[in-house]
Amino acid sequence: MLADRVDSEFDDQQDRAENIRRISQISEYAMPVFPSPLDTDPDIWGLTAVMTDRTFHATPSNSEKETHFGYQSIPESEKEEKVKEVFERVADTYDLMNDAMSLGVHRLWKDHFVKSAAPKPTFKCLDVAGGTGDIAFKLHKYMRNVNRDCEKIVVCDINTEMLRVGEERAAQMGVGENFTWVEGNAEVLQFPDNTFDLYTIAYGIRNCTHIDKVLEEAYRVLKPGGRFMCLEFSEVNNPLISQVYDKYSHDVIPVMGQLIAGDFESYQYLVESIRKFPNQETFAEMVAAAGFEVVEYENLTFGVTAIHSGYKL
Ligand SMILES: C[S@@+](CC[C@H](N)C(=O)[O-])C[C@H]1O[C@@H](n2cnc3c(N)ncnc32)[C@H](O)[C@@H]1O
Repeated sequence: MLADRVDSEFDDQQDRAENIRRISQISEYAMPVFPSPLDTDPDIWGLTAVMTDRTFHATPSNSEKETHFGYQSIPESEKEEKVKEVFERVADTYDLMNDAMSLGVHRLWKDHFVKSAAPKPTFKCLDVAGGTGDIAFKLHKYMRNVNRDCEKIVVCDINTEMLRVGEERAAQMGVGENFTWVEGNAEVLQFPDNTFDLYTIAYGIRNCTHIDKVLEEAYRVLKPGGRFMCLEFSEVNNPLISQVYDKYSHDVIPVMGQLIAGDFESYQYLVESIRKFPNQETFAEMVAAAGFEVVEYENLTFGVTAIHSGYKL
């Protein structure tokens, strides 16, 4: 169903021609990071051909390398499925819980994130782990208000339930035609090299098994000059606030999850996953290691959340 919609939405020949024109311009001076699909199939450059019903999943490793799922240690090959189950369970109450847990502050963080991204009218934007569409809606609003124009925004998420809620929200707001919803894994994106001007990922990367692969893929799909922007929970830099925040998140949030969403465990995982994510400096190093330049970060609310960004130059 999603695939059909994606096909029809991207079947616009003009969009396709524009995409091919931009990519061929870029490919004159940019060396693709990964082998280009164009090398093997000239038809694949059109997004119609690429964004079909192919859903990519991380290939399970033969070795039983362990990773974290919250505070648990599990085989790497199991994490993707477990994370999927969490977001399937929370999809319908996700937006309500975000407001309850953060007392609405997540909206301010997301507004600031989008303002910092400052997308231009012609930007092709990709929001990865876009879930129920918060960032995509804010990008769209910004582009409409500030630029009076907006290219179609692509929202990619591994979870159909989260995307379903996002699509329903877009339809209710009467802006459905401005978004394309794509089921896909941030670690193996199904978009051609050098496609997007802006890549955003908000509160998604910590749920991925291989952060380095997510960053490599972000670099690959961005055009030269394109910007990577990540909004993620991070390390609190004030000892007193850190203590209060720790207590609140470990003792209150899972209980809130139980009361509002009837789900203690999913919210316990979400809290634990925040603690397992690399701190600001370490994550900035990872972003730079993926090839991004002018890497910087900004702490919001004492580092409860941080914005990391970098350019593909
Ligand atoms: C906490 S939600 C954030 C949603 C949205 N970006 C927001 O800020 O409200 C995390 C999202 O990451 C998605 N996700 C987790 N692992 C993923 C992966 N490997 N690839 C793509 N999306 C993934 C989940 O399905 C979920 O929708």
